[in-house]
Amino acid sequence: MKNDNFVIQGDICWSTSLTALKTMPDAFLVCVEGKSAGVYPQLPQRFAELPLFDYRGKLVIPGLVDLHIHAPQFAFRGLGMDMELLDWLDSHAFPEEAKFNDIDYARSAYGLFTEHLKRSSNTRFVVYATVHVPATLLLMELLEESGLVCMVGKVNMDRNSPDSLREYSAASSLEATREWLGAADTYTRVKPVLTPRFIPSCSDDLMRGLGALRREFNLPVQSHLSENRSEIEWVRKLCPASGSYGAAYRDFDLFGNDTPEGGPTVMAHCVWPDENEIALMARRGVFAAHCPQSNANLSSGIAPVRRLLLAGVPVGLGSDIAGGTSSSVFRAMADAVQVSKLRRVLLDNDDKALTLEEVFYLGTVGGGVFFEKSGMGRCGSFEPRYDFDALIIDDSSLATSGWRTAPFALSIRDRLERTVYLGDNHTIAAKYVQGRLITA
Ligand code: GUN
Ligand code: FE
Repeated sequence: MKNDNFVIQGDICWSTSLTALKTMPDAFLVCVEGKSAGVYPQLPQRFAELPLFDYRGKLVIPGLVDLHIHAPQFAFRGLGMDMELLDWLDSHAFPEEAKFNDIDYARSAYGLFTEHLKRSSNTRFVVYATVHVPATLLLMELLEESGLVCMVGKVNMDRNSPDSLREYSAASSLEATREWLGAADTYTRVKPVLTPRFIPSCSDDLMRGLGALRREFNLPVQSHLSENRSEIEWVRKLCPASGSYGAAYRDFDLFGNDTPEGGPTVMAHCVWPDENEIALMARRGVFAAHCPQSNANLSSGIAPVRRLLLAGVPVGLGSDIAGGTSSSVFRAMADAVQVSKLRRVLLDNDDKALTLEEVFYLGTVGGGVFFEKSGMGRCGSFEPRYDFDALIIDDSSLATSGWRTAPFALSIRDRLERTVYLGDNHTIAAKYVQGRLITA
């Protein structure tokens, strides 16, 4: 199906704010030229001629947004999960990523990755590739063909990593980045995002050069921030003058969009930010990609999501494959609720645990705003003029007996909660991105 105009009928649900869901049973969601034209309890006469797709009895929700995923790490999901971050990078992530120097290996691995994403609950992704330009362009091509909407970064790293993966110098890394950017603007649904791996991997010269590229090409930025305590200690030694990890990115002009040039920044993890770092993120509109499964797997900790939200930091969710093992943002939502409860109990503090409504907002609108600020369309909602990104969920297999029948019938809100906790790929009946049906 192309960007046709059509109507979907089903049990429709979306976020209207951080704390509120809108639900409409057996309602009509209209797609006009790839965008939502609104949700209606009865189909307005002006849309009566459009094709109607009958998803009655199924849930219809906005496509989910994964703000942080490493494409080359897909191959070793579920391995090394008894390690901490820095050892796991050395033993698992770096050796696997080095293989993407071989374009045939990359074609096979990224082919499997792309097919997996097509079948997942997510419609949009912010993706780390590797340092390699040909493999990164190949990944962008595969993702473009898939119909998914993605931001993809060629990784920069010129220090503290093995020779097999490390770029030779700041100058050669920047030259490769220019080459990549020159070739990367041929895609419509896939756009480049500047990707310094994290401060320990990037020399000061490289970071300065990337800050200049960001301004020259008006680019968004992704990186990692305050994930693990040994990492933070290391950054303190590497950038003693900056005062904090976040301030070090700021000093290289890679932290937020408070200048007319340069797109927004998303920082994965933010597990250990202090008050100053949180305030700096809020002031500069830096997004946090909360990756609760990865933070548990790699013993990183529990991010203070409630404090980030109260301070005004924009927050979305990430799978962080392969720190995280599941690519489903449903799983990230469930984990975000669970770890917020552990945080409250273990720290004995007043931060309220996250609710289903809040994590659903973070996994749809919250991450979606990063795409909007990057000029890639509004997504995560069914309000008029949002891109028509929709998931159709057949939750009948999650049913316990009699759930559809009064007095046992579940509300749409409760069916959504159950899908967040129990749903997996087999419950996805269809997925639309910008009005196109994505078939795996
Ligand atoms: N910090 C730097 N690189 C990585 C990575 O690949 N995964 C995670 N979780 N953190 C990182
Ligand atoms: Fe990561």
